[in-house]
Amino acid sequence: MSYETLLTEVIGAGERRTGVIRLNRPKQLNALNDTLMDELGVALKAFDADDAIGCIVLTGGDKAFAAGADISVLARFDFARAYQMDLITRNWEQLRYVRKPVIAAVAGFALGGGCELVMMCDIVIAADNARFGQPEIKLGLIPGAGGTQRLPRAVGKAKAMDLVLTGRMMDAAEAERSGLVARVVPADKLMEEALGAAAAICDLSAVSVLANKECVNRAFETGLSDGVHFERRMFHAMFSTEDKNEGTSAFLEKRKPVFKHR
Ligand code: HXC
Repeated sequence: MSYETLLTEVIGAGERRTGVIRLNRPKQLNALNDTLMDELGVALKAFDADDAIGCIVLTGGDKAFAAGADISVLARFDFARAYQMDLITRNWEQLRYVRKPVIAAVAGFALGGGCELVMMCDIVIAADNARFGQPEIKLGLIPGAGGTQRLPRAVGKAKAMDLVLTGRMMDAAEAERSGLVARVVPADKLMEEALGAAAAICDLSAVSVLANKECVNRAFETGLSDGVHFERRMFHAMFSTEDKNEGTSAFLEKRKPVFKHR
């Protein structure tokens, strides 16, 4: 499948491989327009549905992961049109419904909608030149793809207010300190690190991977008692899988497990 605004490829040698999606509007610093968001939804859905894919890596270019929604498009919207076409909801949220892990590999600017996309991913690995921010306030706007909700959950209210109300950027080191990103690596090692993490996930039991992701996401959607209850029931359910028998046996027999993803 070929896209106008994305490059996709499958990487890896194992039974389950990594689907890589690269945002590709470099002249506009990967500004996110309707075509790109439509295509991203299609690409994510295709990898998620493919049994040969164990993990997805979402990345951009060296200078920008994405510098936000395309401001030239936003400039033309009025309320009635945005509301009637359900701007954002219509095609920005496919990432929320992807069940396999999505690793964001971020170099350069991840601003506005770009930062919001990053926050919809499961693991964020940043190059040391990455810069994050929600500068919508400088355009007389507010974040529209979950930024005011996911940022405080990721970095706490104090830092989120600072970023959203001033529109300033934070660098990779601050983002890691604050809990927005999981790892910071030298820019030239970004893809190696992200693909290494993805390959490790591809080797695990696909059933267990899905369950782990779903349980962690529950922590953001529910209270502690309900979340722990959900985890407990999922934990019990894992005892029905062949992969749990294989994983525990392999450990006891001091050998590498061979998961069958069931
Ligand atoms: C459209 C953009 C763009 C954007 C950059 N460009 N960001 N076009 N929408 N978000 C274009 C520039 O117009 C320019 O085009 C080219 O990309 C290179 O950008 P420069 O500004 O020349 O680069 P630089 O000086 O290095 O500055 C980089 C930057 C700056 C700091 C990232 O471009 C910037 O501030 N961009 C806007 C960031 C922003 O406000 N994002 C939030 C958008 S609102 P030309 O043709 O001149 O070469 C948003 C709402 C989300 O995301 C809500 C959900 C949808």
